[in-house]
Amino acid sequence: MENKRAQWSSNIGFILATVGSAVGLGNIWRFPYIMGKNGVAVFLLIYVLIIAFICAIPLCLELATGKIYRLDAVSSYEKINPKLAPFGYLCILTAILIPCFYFVVGGWILNYIWIFAANSIPSDFGAYFSSLNSNIFAPLGLTLVFLIMTAYFPYKGVNKGIEKANNIMMPLFAIMLITLAVYALFLPGAKAGLEFMFKPDFSVFNHKMILTALGQALFTLSIGMGTILTYGSYLDKKTNIKKSAYTLIFFDTLIAILAGIMIFPIVFSEGIEPSAGAILVFISLPEIFTFLPFSNICAIIFFLLLFFAAITSGISLMETSIACFVDKFKMKRSHATLLLSAIIAIMAIPASLSFGALSGFKIFNKTFFDLLDFLTSSVLLPFNTFIICIIGGWYAHNVSKEAFGETFFGKILLFILKFILPVILILALIFGLN
Ligand code: PHE
Repeated sequence: MENKRAQWSSNIGFILATVGSAVGLGNIWRFPYIMGKNGVAVFLLIYVLIIAFICAIPLCLELATGKIYRLDAVSSYEKINPKLAPFGYLCILTAILIPCFYFVVGGWILNYIWIFAANSIPSDFGAYFSSLNSNIFAPLGLTLVFLIMTAYFPYKGVNKGIEKANNIMMPLFAIMLITLAVYALFLPGAKAGLEFMFKPDFSVFNHKMILTALGQALFTLSIGMGTILTYGSYLDKKTNIKKSAYTLIFFDTLIAILAGIMIFPIVFSEGIEPSAGAILVFISLPEIFTFLPFSNICAIIFFLLLFFAAITSGISLMETSIACFVDKFKMKRSHATLLLSAIIAIMAIPASLSFGALSGFKIFNKTFFDLLDFLTSSVLLPFNTFIICIIGGWYAHNVSKEAFGETFFGKILLFILKFILPVILILALIFGLN
């Protein structure tokens, strides 16, 4: 029986939605920093090779699996072989765990948009950020608001919610990013910033770089948790998988590089050392903004940009589990959204308290927030990707055929998939755990 499944109403809608999922906090605060720290030219080359010849492969496999079976991750794996269901559930588990910390960051972003919009700017952002987080209810409330805003779109459905949101937010995101990047090029720190980013330093090459590039590429492409598989399940029969995968890779990488062109001139305008993660975005950058021309407007644009990046990724994360609740457990979309939101809201409590009341509570020497980050990025993502590669390379030949086609390039990708990728992913797991 042909299932009556929602479909992207156009190819652009699909591309915007997958780019929306891929482009997230990973592109804006992680990539430029990692690139700068790793001697740029060499790292960029390694990164492009890895993303184009290694990560493109599971990306194609996920898209192809979705396109063929037109179901959620668990049901698709079950169609390949009922014994594979547990691996599908692992994907769903990953897609539930990531929002529990990712949405906490979403809450902080909302808070920063508010303080700049209301012009109630603190004099010391370091102190402000820790006082925000030492409060019990503020970060939790903000996380909840971000969760409700995100959940609204999958609740409305694939076309009226997810596709519409991405069709509006991604072009706005691109305009804001380009505006800020151009603005940054006129700042006094432009030269130093671009030098930091683009000056080749060949002496820094080491094997760890390969793993760093691999981890970053998997996370940024949203591979390894059934998200891309789920978005692929709304494709029509005509879409070319390889072409879509490389379009996504192109935009994701371009945006990550543009993010660097925006951030480093700003950072170097105050002559401070570039840093990464929460410190960069919520302490250093806001502080620098206050010294720059058009400070409030720029800060608002910057945090709105982060907001769009985070919410479009969040939507795709939620849709992964919602599709499973709907397809596999036959729940209504509205009930599935409510159930998932409740689970995330509860699990986000310890994550949001990790920077305040629960900062001393550590498991394996990590706060709950860091533990979730580590467990998903360093353990579950590479493991789930390993599984999809084994299934696609050695078992589900219909999937690999759909993914790579019969071309010469397709055959090279298939060879890498069968013989090289499993080894690389096992190494990534071993090194990631150490
Ligand atoms: N790709 C997103 C980023 O770069 C994160 C993400 C991971 C989103 C997994 C969806 C699924 O931040």
